Amino acid sequence: MSEAIAPNEETVNKAWVADWQKIEDEARKDPLAYWAERAAELEWSEPWDQVLDDSNKPFFKWFTGGKTNIVTNAVDRHLKDSRKNKLALIWESEDGKDKRTFSFFALSREVEKMANVLRAMGVVKGDRVTIYLPRIPEVVFAMLACAKIGAVHSVIFAGFSADALSSRIDDSESRVVITADGSWINGSVFPLKQIVDEAVRFSPTVENVIVVRRTGTEITMDPTRDHWYEDLTALPIARGKCPTEQLDAEDPLFILYTSGSTGRPKAILHTHGGYMVGTYTTLKYTFDIHDDDRFWCTADPGWITGHSYLVYGPLLTGATTFLYEGGPTYPYPDRWWQLVEDYGITTFYTAPTAIRALMRFGDAWVNRHDLSSLRLLGTVGEPINPEAWHWFYDVVGKGVAPVMDTWWQTETGMFQIAGVPAMPQKPGSAGRPVFGQEAEIVNDKGEVVPDGTEGLLVLKNPWPAMMRTLYNDDERYVQTYWSTYPGRYLTGDAAKRDSDGYFWIIGRTDDVIKVSGHRLGTAEVESAIASHPAVAETAAIGLPHEVKGNAIHAYVILAPHLTGSRELVEEIRLHVAQHLSPIAKPDEINFVESLPKTRSGKIMRRVLRAEALGEDVGDLSTLDD
Ligand code: WT7
Repeated sequence: MSEAIAPNEETVNKAWVADWQKIEDEARKDPLAYWAERAAELEWSEPWDQVLDDSNKPFFKWFTGGKTNIVTNAVDRHLKDSRKNKLALIWESEDGKDKRTFSFFALSREVEKMANVLRAMGVVKGDRVTIYLPRIPEVVFAMLACAKIGAVHSVIFAGFSADALSSRIDDSESRVVITADGSWINGSVFPLKQIVDEAVRFSPTVENVIVVRRTGTEITMDPTRDHWYEDLTALPIARGKCPTEQLDAEDPLFILYTSGSTGRPKAILHTHGGYMVGTYTTLKYTFDIHDDDRFWCTADPGWITGHSYLVYGPLLTGATTFLYEGGPTYPYPDRWWQLVEDYGITTFYTAPTAIRALMRFGDAWVNRHDLSSLRLLGTVGEPINPEAWHWFYDVVGKGVAPVMDTWWQTETGMFQIAGVPAMPQKPGSAGRPVFGQEAEIVNDKGEVVPDGTEGLLVLKNPWPAMMRTLYNDDERYVQTYWSTYPGRYLTGDAAKRDSDGYFWIIGRTDDVIKVSGHRLGTAEVESAIASHPAVAETAAIGLPHEVKGNAIHAYVILAPHLTGSRELVEEIRLHVAQHLSPIAKPDEINFVESLPKTRSGKIMRRVLRAEALGEDVGDLSTLDD
């Protein structure tokens, strides 16, 4: 574990939190007072009666009795002060030819338009709306428009296949789907609308599909169901005020699907009040956001990082958020650095996998740009190896901008382990539990292990932005997160704590694989592979990969009388991309005669992993044959 790097004085002088140890202590002694103070920085149309209602654990409720709306604080609040004409959102297209900017006032207008359209379609409080959009401003408008009228958004990453989209639309029983004619990916068009057509063919709940024009691709429109967004916004119903519905703090804001270790994806449910307080506070303190900041989170709004720290967090703090349509290396590996320079990005938040990928192109791509606007950097999604950390710190941040690693999950909604700029930095460590939180490393009996020992990471305190349940599945919520060590939240990660109280994340302990920071369950990947007609049985595991962190390796037993070939490998990989997502494509496929299983028929992935890595396979007493 490497030496700590002292915080830079200039950064600390500017920071909201300089005396972090004092705040950490106070928040430890009285977390609810700490959260109440943070919540009081925001606007509520009715004050809360109780900060935390824990009478029905683990179904915690926050700020009960309070009324607000996340849009009241992310947008409306800023219209009353000097931020009204300040830029809220800046967007640039993949090819760099289109640029769109929105002041808070303009953003508010756009959100009202979209909200009026949804209302006119009969969407009311509590209805679910599926959003399947590229990284264009409309994805932000759509999320905020749903929130504004109390509808529950379900954003699906616009790289998911028709199968994956369809099962998520059906599970959420969405009435409306918002999509685009296509999206740009490295200069070519990805047919979003066509995928939606396939996905909703058998969805009984979908009444309307709203289509934003983006690529100009020719598409089929079903006149009874599909509407161009630009036609809708030209109608009189789209004009005029749309008041922000005042909701109970505990009213649902969104569901977001994420992978678990078994079975179908889980629908994580977040609510207005607590999520708002949690994302606002953590972004403000960890990234030390001020009014003049231009914050760029490179995540897609289809993941929790995009929800919390691209859309909601920055707008709640009144900062300017930057949205870029494309990826880091198209057309050249300095695309991101060029954008940082062009827009004067001050705070930049990305994933270790992207840093490792860009690092491989060499320093010259970075050095040809003026990155002096950067004052804070951040990472998320997987452990950052010290080599990547140092490259990010030295080459991108010029040894001036601290690197804030942030450990959290779709379920936690907000950072759980992170730093603040005034804390000494330890390259490779995620930092310390955020103010008001406490974390422990335990063994499988639930006993706290000594510092420096690897164990399971658990969280001790409830926190405002915690998920409230799994949508329609309270039992799985309790079972997955709260039943292993009652009273403590099971993260599913292995980690160590050092003697300074810093946490070092090792990785998942369950059948979840983080590939380039994306979360995949072995079960989903295996079912996509097994749906190929040549496959009789399969097992998927994650193996270490230099850039992606982990890569998927699949073992396949072919249907009788078939033999493996290179062509078949490619065919199965493509099949996975089409039936789940390109992210899930296995790097390698091995054709095998049998798979290691327990006597009860469960695949022993740990045996496959140990064999692939040339490690000791350990206890095989449960292995059948
Ligand atoms: C899993 C959650 C919420 C952010 C995006 C991922 C891993 C996340 C870190 C980090 C080491 C990390 C964990 C966690 N993870 N951040 N800073 N250092 N590991 O959210 O898709 O729900 O995945 O990502 O394994 O459990 P997610």
